Amino acid sequence: MKSSAAPLMFVSFVILSVLTGFPLSQSMDTGPEAPSGLRCEYFENPMGIDIEKPRFSWALGHTERGRIQFAYQIIVSSDKEAEKGDIWDTGKEISDTSVQVEYGGGDLESNRTYFWKVRYWDDLDKPSPYSDIHKFDTAILDSDLWEAKWISKHNLLRRSFICDQGKIRRARIYVAGLGYYELRLNGHKVGTSVLDPAWTTYDKHVLYSVYDVTDLLLEGDNAVGVMLGKGWYKSTALILQMMISFESGEELIITSDESWKSRPGPIVQDSVYDGEVYDARLEIPGWDKPGFDAALWEEVESAITPQGVLRAQMIPPIRVVETIQPVSRTNPRPGVFIYDMGQNISGWVEMTASGPRDTRIRLRHAELLYPDGELNRENLRQAKAEDVYILKGKGKESYQPRFTYHGFRYVEVSGYPGTPPQDSIRGKVVHTSVEQTGAFSCSTELLNRMQKVFLWGLRTNLHGIPTDCSQRDERMGWLGDAHLTAEMAMLNFDMAAFYSKFIQDISDVQDNRGRITDTVPHIWGQRPADPAWGTAYPMLCWYMYKQYGDRRIIEDHYDGLKAYVEFIRGQANKNILEYSYYGDWIAIDQTPGSLVSTFFYYYDVKILSDIAEILGRDIDFRTYSKLGDDIRSSFHAEFYNPETGGYGTNSQTSNILALYLDLTPKNVRGRVYGNLIRDILYERNTHLSTGIMGTKYLPEVIDFSLAYDLLTQTSYPSWGYMLLNGATTLWELWQNKTGPGMNSHNHPMLGSVGTWFYRNVVGIDQAEDSFGYKKIHIRPGFGRDLKFAEGRIRSLYGAVACRWIKTDSGYRVQLSIPVNCTAEVFLPILGKRKPILIEGGSPVYTSDRFLTGIDGIKMVDEKENQLIIQIGSGRYVFELKGE
Ligand code: BGC
Repeated sequence: MKSSAAPLMFVSFVILSVLTGFPLSQSMDTGPEAPSGLRCEYFENPMGIDIEKPRFSWALGHTERGRIQFAYQIIVSSDKEAEKGDIWDTGKEISDTSVQVEYGGGDLESNRTYFWKVRYWDDLDKPSPYSDIHKFDTAILDSDLWEAKWISKHNLLRRSFICDQGKIRRARIYVAGLGYYELRLNGHKVGTSVLDPAWTTYDKHVLYSVYDVTDLLLEGDNAVGVMLGKGWYKSTALILQMMISFESGEELIITSDESWKSRPGPIVQDSVYDGEVYDARLEIPGWDKPGFDAALWEEVESAITPQGVLRAQMIPPIRVVETIQPVSRTNPRPGVFIYDMGQNISGWVEMTASGPRDTRIRLRHAELLYPDGELNRENLRQAKAEDVYILKGKGKESYQPRFTYHGFRYVEVSGYPGTPPQDSIRGKVVHTSVEQTGAFSCSTELLNRMQKVFLWGLRTNLHGIPTDCSQRDERMGWLGDAHLTAEMAMLNFDMAAFYSKFIQDISDVQDNRGRITDTVPHIWGQRPADPAWGTAYPMLCWYMYKQYGDRRIIEDHYDGLKAYVEFIRGQANKNILEYSYYGDWIAIDQTPGSLVSTFFYYYDVKILSDIAEILGRDIDFRTYSKLGDDIRSSFHAEFYNPETGGYGTNSQTSNILALYLDLTPKNVRGRVYGNLIRDILYERNTHLSTGIMGTKYLPEVIDFSLAYDLLTQTSYPSWGYMLLNGATTLWELWQNKTGPGMNSHNHPMLGSVGTWFYRNVVGIDQAEDSFGYKKIHIRPGFGRDLKFAEGRIRSLYGAVACRWIKTDSGYRVQLSIPVNCTAEVFLPILGKRKPILIEGGSPVYTSDRFLTGIDGIKMVDEKENQLIIQIGSGRYVFELKGE
């Protein structure tokens, strides 16, 4: 459609407005506000866009309620004032799409900065002002532009170079240092990333990072230096390309090649699991500065080239995101000091010390203490988790490791010269720096504490991939753990770029038979993956589509998903998938592995058929819908036991899974549900017995009050039990174990139920057919003794917020709905015979009647003891009153 359609749209809008009571009020000082929250491929002003057609999203503002976007105009410019769209100008594009709009101009060039802005027209055809100007930087889109070579030798590498072509206009460094690197330019660390690049299957993809170094370069002599660590690559190699443009129009390219020099640095040992040994006596002052004499340094060698394709790293880097002070220091033995961080974290400590040269200080990490106050490191298994610092003996020395990280709450310091002052140790929290975008709190303190513990566990397990744990000799991308926690992660953090990368990682392990692996990258576990683990591939793609409206993910991975489903289909025997290695992992009551596998087989097929429908692949849609129906019938035939009235072993998980995806025919549903409730309430005195798979779906299958009782339970097994026993991150097992073996105290997987806080307690969700929160559902959970709850999530359209509180007469619900979205609000009438619904002080519904005339409220209906309210964007305050 082109802009000529506007008047027509306007007329039909007026007619529609009259019919629905949709507001038409207009005044001079009201109207659409400049778009904000501009994103290019999920980032604000990103560096290193490695996509030919990046997508743009923006959030809209409007002074009036009930507004949608009628049209937009995007300008992409080579000029920072972005006056004209010399690169791309959409003109007035009639469309209500304000998220994931694909770039449609000519080919973007590599290594360039583009500027963009956007404005929109509302449904009254009123234009907004333009947004602020944003920018994005392209990476090396054309691999032929890579001139650099992979080099290696020792763990310090450097070269000097001269910039004498006049004033520098723009300079970028493209760098991948494997396993990890620290980049230094003229004596400064470049950027704030640590443990970079993110882990990938290196023979498929290697990620490089992009840094703007315009301000770090000097006219004249310069020096670039790189420290390398082994990381997950277990070896070292560097590729670096610096591209400098001068005001004069000249260009200079500095690359990693034979001209670089190398020598061993102060890091004499480094390993992700075991820690780092740093010998400060080996430091080489000035090595990363211009003017340094590297005559005695050795020549570098060309490295065995990693096989993977170089791609720009388009996820937030791992960073030190927080510094924490220890809460206490004890001295269990002479010369041994233990600091308690008060919180289980992932990262390391920064230590300061002064003392004689050669003093060797040892930092050992642990999640637990023995009753006598000594470190309990049994659950670290083979991970040494130990950093050593050897003093150079010059004044106050400060140290933090570079190429390792630990999962710990306690750190033991020994060998320290004298008694370490309380402030000589500080905790550094290190993980992928995803932005927190969600918030939740309510009147039940235990739930708030759980939310806190869930989030600590989740974020400290984001290390370029979602890991299972952060402390022991594992820290793998177990796919089961990844899909179970993904939805709750997406409600709390901006996870879009992170999971886009991880989905690519999954695709990287897929073989030509469609098989994927239990862990990604594949180190542990098996190929083919346990079906309850492999399901992460379809599941994560689907969540990306649901949460962020990411259609590109489901398009790009469609063939991979289909190949995966076809593989498991080939393994199934009469629609039953028997193979299973872990099933309902860590459960208290066992569920047949084949039941769990067949459940996920059905789920995968269902996701694939939904995606096929969305993408208009009609034949596949029909094939997989039919296959889904067949699996559904077979599941029931195979696992339902008419004697018990339950599925499988009649365990909670067996019945939860059957109920969750509606695998039970209607006539037995009541019985199955009854079995589940009986088991929870009477057999187990209001406790669960589920493993990780059943737990995720449990609260969505049972009613609010029972879910509330289970989630606020404090005796074993429950989350409350963990918290009362001092957990600051979730345990791997329901049991309180402190011995050796599989017993991590930071496993985020059981925090999957964190979705319930948002969806069921606060009540923010979206319609079945909505994606990206275009059609919001609000259904506050006024149950049990909850007095209030509030929460907020950030969709690409903007923030969705709900706060509710019980009042003497009923309740009050405050809402905020982004422009360009609509919402359906479900409010119970709480047994009132004559419910009166007030909004902002005026009645909107009374005695069975919807009173029109309030901006943004399109309809109120009373159905099945609840009021169903249709609203548009804006802020609202609803109150329920009446007798
Ligand atoms: C991991 C789990 C993982 C499991 C597979 C464990 O070692 O820590 O979280 O999902 O293996 O069963």
